[in-house]
Amino acid sequence: MTPVALDPTRVAGWRTTWDAVMLGFVPGLPALERVVATAAEAARGAPPARVLDLGGGPGLLAERMSRRWPAAAVTLLDLDPVLLELARAGLPPAVEVVRADLASPAWPAVTGGGYDLITVVMTVHYLVPEAIRALYAAAREALAPGGLLVVADLMPDDGLPYVMRALDPGPGEGAAELAWAQWWGGLGAVPEIAGLLAARADLFRDRPPAGFTADLGWHAAAARAAGFGEAGALWREGRHAALAAQLR
Ligand SMILES: C[S@@+](CC[C@H](N)C(=O)[O-])C[C@H]1O[C@@H](n2cnc3c(N)ncnc32)[C@H](O)[C@@H]1O
Repeated sequence: MTPVALDPTRVAGWRTTWDAVMLGFVPGLPALERVVATAAEAARGAPPARVLDLGGGPGLLAERMSRRWPAAAVTLLDLDPVLLELARAGLPPAVEVVRADLASPAWPAVTGGGYDLITVVMTVHYLVPEAIRALYAAAREALAPGGLLVVADLMPDDGLPYVMRALDPGPGEGAAELAWAQWWGGLGAVPEIAGLLAARADLFRDRPPAGFTADLGWHAAAARAAGFGEAGALWREGRHAALAAQLR
């Protein structure tokens, strides 16, 4: 796509409000980030040298990880043309931004490998179960020996079939959905972004978010089936949880 010139102050504003929208869905995100940082440093016995954030959106987590570990090479992967542009415009140049599709297991060919930490936050619910299983296998390929994969998403332990959960949003999720819609609606009024929004609409027209949610045990089993020697709960807040999987 042709690069667009976005006003840096507005980009900063959109990224800040995005962060607030995500906190509406998962108020415990700051605690999750602290736990991830501690686990990543413990896994390597030092700060990670190579970090990859999959489905990183406009890059708030990538930016915070880059600040926390200034010597690390941090890469963000996403598919959404709007969010990729906000990431490119808002992130420090040290953070690499790449476009790839997590629904295809070929993404490690774009990102390269040797990562000490791979994070996937609030993203796997966009994928169908087969693609999530394939993502675990591809992440294994992209990790360095001893590397840590963290997958955080809606992982309720309510025993319900996932189609039932879609009918029963958790507390606060209605307000968060509204804030999400307002955030995207706000961008719709910005002429410089119109082309990117049209490209986004084309991209996602035939591939709406899968909306698949599984419990943490499902994710742990998928990670083990993909060859991770260790996989288990790293963090939980209500219906949201994070799985940590490590290569041994
Ligand atoms: C709810 S957002 C979360 C973004 C970010 N992780 C955060 O916490 O702010 C989900 C992200 O997954 C990305 N995504 C969805 N499907 C994808 C795919 N097939 N390949 C790459 N990224 C995808 C979306 O573009 C979006 O940035």
